[in-house]
Amino acid sequence: MGSSLVAGWRRAWPMAQVSVVTRAGSGPPEGQWLAFDEAARLSDFDAIVLAVKPADAAEALAELSQFEGARLLVSVAAGLSLAQLETACPSGWRCVRAMTSLAIALGAGAAVAAARDLGDEDRRLCERLLPAPGGVVWIEETEMDAATALMGSGPAYFFRLAETLLQAGEALGLEPRMAAHLVRATLAGSGALAAANGQSLVQLKAAVASPGGTTAAALEVLDCNDALARLVARAAEAATRRGAELRSAGPVNIPG
Ligand SMILES: NC(=O)c1ccc[n+]([C@@H]2O[C@H](COP(=O)([O-])OP(=O)(O)OC[C@H]3O[C@@H](n4cnc5c(N)ncnc54)[C@H](OP(=O)(O)O)[C@@H]3O)[C@@H](O)[C@H]2O)c1
Repeated sequence: MGSSLVAGWRRAWPMAQVSVVTRAGSGPPEGQWLAFDEAARLSDFDAIVLAVKPADAAEALAELSQFEGARLLVSVAAGLSLAQLETACPSGWRCVRAMTSLAIALGAGAAVAAARDLGDEDRRLCERLLPAPGGVVWIEETEMDAATALMGSGPAYFFRLAETLLQAGEALGLEPRMAAHLVRATLAGSGALAAANGQSLVQLKAAVASPGGTTAAALEVLDCNDALARLVARAAEAATRRGAELRSAGPVNIPG
């Protein structure tokens, strides 16, 4: 996620200075364009973006906490609450709990954020750090696990569906590489339509599915007994529940 954010910043703000703090002893990922700074130079920064797994957050925040001065911390770690972040940070730091997806690397996808008593300047900086089309959607923290289940994890759901479509194509006798090309291009084309078109999802679907046609026949199977809707609802619930678990009982050892 960190690499995707950096790629998004590079696209949106080519002149911005970005430094990556990795674990002690390890440099930035190979091939990255950005410079590696020692953590001691953190005092130069306007904001810190935390993009580690929740299980590593306590260690990372403990390292960051040794630096003086009030700062803006933007965390994209799924499941870490504002209370946990605020407890783990030195007093005076302003914390934002945010969520986005890997598509941010391409200037695509969505971004949400939640914070308490954040000033306008911090809010604007946070919005620059999450360069999603349409801007950052500010939500209540209580909505964050559900928002994460939809759009933090969401790309994987679409990829999983595409995988199953590819398997179906192969079962129907299509050559695997050709089927993969067709599915990938269809996924990309659908995303482009959804992004570019002012029509609702229902209208977009109706534009493909003429009554009595081939698409309608397929949708009838997907919608039989609400099979797809029930499955997706259960999947989103599981992701939302996992967010709460990561916060309360998981390996994250941050009080709050
Ligand atoms: N992947 C997604 O699609 C996605 C979407 C939205 C949000 N997120 C959130 O983004 C966070 C990272 O997920 P990820 O999938 O990008 O995980 P990841 O690939 O494992 O990346 C985490 C990075 O954090 C580094 N790290 C761990 N402990 C550190 C420390 N103490 N100091 C500095 N760096 C440290 C790791 O370094 P090492 O290589 O040395 O372990 C690794 O490079 C998670 O909290 C996740 O909830 C992910």
